[in-house]
Amino acid sequence: MSENENELAWREIPCVEFNLIQAVFQTTACFSSLSLVVSFVLFMRAYIYPPSFTSSLHHLSATSPPSLTTMAFTFIFCFIPPFLFIFLFHSLLLHFFKPNRPKLPLPPGTMGWPYIGETFHLYSQNPNVFFASKQKRYGSIFKTHILGCPCVMISSPDAAKFVLVTKSHLFKPTFPASKERMLGKQAIFFNQGPYHAKLRKLVLRAFMPDSIKNIVPNIESIAKHSLHSLQGRLITTFQEMKTYTFNVALLSIFQKDDQVLYREDLKRCYYILEKGYNSMPINLPGTLFNKSMKARKEIAQILAKIISTRRQTKQVDCNDLLGSFMSDKEGLTDEQIADNVISVIFAARDTTASVLTWIIKYLGENPSVLQAVSEEQEAIMRGKEEQELSWEDTKKMPLTSRVIQETLRVASILSFTFREAVEDVEYEGYLIPKGWKVLPLFRNIHHSPEIFPDPQKFDPSRFEVAPKPNTFMPFGSGTHSCPGNELAKLEIMVLLHHLTTKYRWSMVGSNSGIQYGPFALPQNGLPIRLVKK
Ligand code: HEM
Repeated sequence: MSENENELAWREIPCVEFNLIQAVFQTTACFSSLSLVVSFVLFMRAYIYPPSFTSSLHHLSATSPPSLTTMAFTFIFCFIPPFLFIFLFHSLLLHFFKPNRPKLPLPPGTMGWPYIGETFHLYSQNPNVFFASKQKRYGSIFKTHILGCPCVMISSPDAAKFVLVTKSHLFKPTFPASKERMLGKQAIFFNQGPYHAKLRKLVLRAFMPDSIKNIVPNIESIAKHSLHSLQGRLITTFQEMKTYTFNVALLSIFQKDDQVLYREDLKRCYYILEKGYNSMPINLPGTLFNKSMKARKEIAQILAKIISTRRQTKQVDCNDLLGSFMSDKEGLTDEQIADNVISVIFAARDTTASVLTWIIKYLGENPSVLQAVSEEQEAIMRGKEEQELSWEDTKKMPLTSRVIQETLRVASILSFTFREAVEDVEYEGYLIPKGWKVLPLFRNIHHSPEIFPDPQKFDPSRFEVAPKPNTFMPFGSGTHSCPGNELAKLEIMVLLHHLTTKYRWSMVGSNSGIQYGPFALPQNGLPIRLVKK
């Protein structure tokens, strides 16, 4: 569909306001026609048949023509009211709804083939090339059609703020049905309003600095153990980082004892479950989806056991996510807890593992930055009696923090997020129709040369100055922004501390490619060889 066909598209789109006007007009027309028919019948009856139905028309009959006064009287009472009714009602409608006001155009862009839209165009290449070329051609707001949905993509900081923060109530989160069934429809991602606010409060309570500072020693022990088990081997970085971030996620959700007891079972079930995330939602024996749903049930049973043990042993105030869910006064049901525990694992694991994989790649490619990070990390331990990291130590890592920020910017592992307009929305003179998907393109913002000069270059020093508001959103923004961002940064720092002070690594094979699955990742998950220093 071309830009010039916007007007046509406008007529095709579902629009609440015009549907309403149509409905009201049709109702009025029905009533008016009915009144006219009734009036006509009354009038005719008054002349043709003997009067029997009203006392006022008592003397009228077909054989004795009525007087002029009677005719005028009948006309005024039978014909004028319906006409007045029609006239007044239509004037009111025109006044309030103004159907002839200038119609808003859709954003520029093309919609591709019917139903398929531009899906192949998007996925036959690096998706970021698609987004960047569209932005170059149409500007920071454009329309397209992917995965069976008409979409509006936005790539300016102001537009992202509009959708995610200031007008977030006009845009609801939206996910494929299979994902919703896998994670559970009561999970934090899929909800809005008071239930979402309550969940958010509980999740944030478990992941705020005051809560996670207590688990630094446990995270450190997981990091040390992971790195130790990898030394001397050729490893796929992403796979190994997933194991690390999975273990940290379990630690933050359950107390240490719970997770040690059930870790292997939870891991086994979760690994089956995740295989079904992007499968067709066909629940027949043998399908990936079916296996995933069974694994999901098993996770819920394990959780029910943990919850029941905690209730029996009166451990309801634990400082972890499960404790936060269980201590809620109004109480979450076991099902709500299961949906949200599974969702947090989903949100926490691959994201953080992808970022760690990119950091290892960028540090490997930038020896001077790696050298500076190693020195910063060694300095923390110098002069310390106990060789364990503390929460305070993690606050003495400014360069490491900038490396994490710059990696989050360059890699932009979540290139965009999805929302859906809950009503027709006007933005900068364009119409975003109800039901259309809206995609804030984080990656385009992070790669804008006006905001971040020489955007492809890995340069942590650019974060010596804080970025302008809404220009850096690796953890999203607004009501659904990432509540786990402090934990993610903490576990990355702890792992980097041990990696840079005790190990060396070399990348194996070609490392220039990027794969998407769905997060952006170095080709083949970045194979490396890790050795002790
Ligand atoms: C570097 C790693 C991470 C990145 C880049 C990241 C990024 C994001 C982003 C961009 C969103 C917002 C999505 C949207 O607006 O649609 C989000 C939401 C979320 N993240 Fe993270 N995340 C990371 C790690 C974590 C961790 C470690 C946890 C939990 C421990 C977590 C839990 C969540 C949850 C529960 C949500 C949904 C919040 C809501 O809907 O209210 N994330 N994350």
